[in-house]
Parts: sequence; structure tokens; C-alpha cells
Amino acid sequence: MKNGILIVFEGIDGSGKSSCMDAAVSEISKKRDVIRTSEPTKGVIGQLIRTHTDVTPETEALLFTADRAEHTKEMKKWLDNGKIVMCDRYYASTLAYQSAYGVRSSWLRKMNEPVIIEPDITFLFDISPEMGLERVESRGEKSKFERLDYLKKVRRNYLKIAKEKGFVIIDASENKDHVLASVMEHISKII
Ligand code: TMP
Repeated sequence: MKNGILIVFEGIDGSGKSSCMDAAVSEISKKRDVIRTSEPTKGVIGQLIRTHTDVTPETEALLFTADRAEHTKEMKKWLDNGKIVMCDRYYASTLAYQSAYGVRSSWLRKMNEPVIIEPDITFLFDISPEMGLERVESRGEKSKFERLDYLKKVRRNYLKIAKEKGFVIIDASENKDHVLASVMEHISKII
């Protein structure tokens, strides 16, 4: 039975969610057992996603979801053992990114429903795609998921899902310390 806590960070590329998660993990791990994990995973399907980028959006959605099914199985074990699990991206990434590629949202939701657990809290790191892309470019990283017009759609999708699911929206344009402090304030209420 689940007695751990699942915390998810979501956001467009360059939103700063991953570095904030690193900082939050090192903060929380001073007192509690924390597992940091992410999607796409480093497992077989996750690697397939990273290396095979020339596939249809539907195939991509299937692969992200298959990766998630295996990941959820793993996370359930950690949660059953009372761990705090912090996950960089989860099902909302598929709903926001793949539907921005034109994949039918009702299909994405239906397909994900049996392979997910509802997180205890999900943070949406909200930032303008212009600012996000600036950060990504300064790191020298770029992928097909990072075009401006595409990220605008992804952001809109994220905000819609956040409203529906009650995600905590974080203004990711604020300075890092401020962002971390507001994330930690929310987390401290549930751990
Ligand atoms: P990352 O840069 O956070 O590691 O994520 C890799 C890319 O994969 C990112 O641009 C978002 C994308 N992605 C999806 O399109 N759908 C998904 O379900 C997931 C988990 C990631």
C-alpha cells in the first residue's frame, strides 16, 4: 500500500524545473529518504525515445506512455516502501507535448489513465517560451521539441491541464532562490 509521497515537476524546456528539483532533492534528503527520477527514463524504452526521433507523433505518444507504464510500476514499489519520489515530468508532459503535435487529446488521456498514479502534488513551472528558449540556447541544447510556436501550444496545454488537475503553478521567471523557496513551502505542507 502506498505510504510514500509522489511529487512531480512539469514545465516547458528551459523552465528551470530540473535544476530546481536537484536543489529541492538535496534539501529534503537532509531529513527524509528521497528518490529522484525522470521521464523519459533511462530504461530501454526511454533510450529508444531519445535515439529514434524520426517517428510519427502517435508512435512517440505510444513510446512515452509505454516508458511511463514501466516507470509507474517501479515508482509504486518505492512509494509502497514509504519513499518520497520526485519525478521530473510525468503524464502531463504527454498530454501537453504530444497533443501540441496534433495527437488527439482524448486518446492520450485514455491511454495514460491505466498506467499512472495521481501525484500528491504537481508543480507547473510556467515561463514564456521566449525566455525558456533563451535559457535552452545558452546551454547549447536544442531538440525538435523546442521550437517557439510549438512551445507556445505546449504552454497553453499545460495551463489548461494545471487548472483542471489543480497543479501548483510556479512563476519560473522569478530568480532561482525565490522559486525554490515557494516550491519548498508547498512541499513542507505535505511531507
Ligand atoms: P527533458 O529535456 O526534460 O529531459 O525532456 C525531453 C523532451 O521530451 C522534452 O522536450 C519534452 C519531451 N517529452 C514529451 O514530448 N512527452 C513526454 O511524455 C515526456 C516525458 C517528454
